[in-house]
Amino acid sequence: MHDPQAHLAPIPDEFEGDYPIRVRGLVNRFDDHVIHDGLDLDVKRGEIIGVVGGSGTGKSVLMRSIIGLQIPQEGSIEVLGRSITDARDDDDIDIRSQWGVLFQGGALFSTLTVAENVEVPLREFYPEITDELRHEIARYKVLLSGLPANATSKYPSELSGGMKKRAGLARALALDPELLFLDEPTAGLDPIGAAAFDTLIRSLQETLGLTVFLITHDLDTLYEICDRVAVLADKKVIAVGTIPELLALDHPWIQEYFNGPRGRAAKDAQDREAAHVVKPNPEAATSAMEQE
Ligand SMILES: Nc1ncnc2c1ncn2[C@@H]1O[C@H](COP(=O)(O)OP(=O)(O)OP(=O)(O)O)[C@@H](O)[C@H]1O
Ligand SMILES: [Mg+2]
Repeated sequence: MHDPQAHLAPIPDEFEGDYPIRVRGLVNRFDDHVIHDGLDLDVKRGEIIGVVGGSGTGKSVLMRSIIGLQIPQEGSIEVLGRSITDARDDDDIDIRSQWGVLFQGGALFSTLTVAENVEVPLREFYPEITDELRHEIARYKVLLSGLPANATSKYPSELSGGMKKRAGLARALALDPELLFLDEPTAGLDPIGAAAFDTLIRSLQETLGLTVFLITHDLDTLYEICDRVAVLADKKVIAVGTIPELLALDHPWIQEYFNGPRGRAAKDAQDREAAHVVKPNPEAATSAMEQE
């Protein structure tokens, strides 16, 4: 049987650059509530890695640990060859400009327009650039995220759920990051809006050469755009691999998740698409965006 943990053998130094995220022996506890207990994970450069697990298994806490917002009790985390767990404050500012984050729930500043939201990280990291250039970069990121130009001057309350996600994505891309962290980006979107968002993520990943850490419950997203999937259960990453590799494992949660009715429906949809019985309809995706 495929050994899902095989890739967790020590990585020789010359391959370090191929794994922009490396987590070893991560322990996170809140009082006596143990969330992670010796969690290991390697993310390969240029992949979209899906992170799945039941609600409350610690997916968001894992993401927050990797980006330095949650200080773990034990373990080491390296991002782009730099230690996050040992980071000093002055290292911190530098490394934070190399990733973009779309948090669960979006979290746009409600008193700022879309463009002003995108400008927040630009102001923080590049205070020296002119107002004109900053506006231009923000506008470009908004368009890149599939929003119409007139969305730049809108406030979050004037946007649909799907548009808010795209605005959050534009802000995550503001600094031209190498790494993109997305926490449940398609939650709350209708299936067509979610599929359009998936397509956008895949095309941005390809054109910008991003490595994407994508937490999701959405089985269609996993099948459509993830190169590998990491499964969180029992306080660890219990398996990492392609979906066929995971399906070969006999862990009950994995079997229930991927082989339950929803998992089978997502697989069938992908099989049909692969056989061109159902062709993806780009017009449907476009009209979904217009409706958002
Ligand atoms: N700051 C905190 N203080 C105390 N407990 C926390 C804190 N943050 C998270 N937790 C707890 O850690 C556990 C894991 O939370 P986390 O948000 O990572 O789950 P999740 O896997 O992202 O779940 P979901 O799929 O519902 O988003 C939960 O039991 C949560 O209540
Ligand atoms: Mg979460």
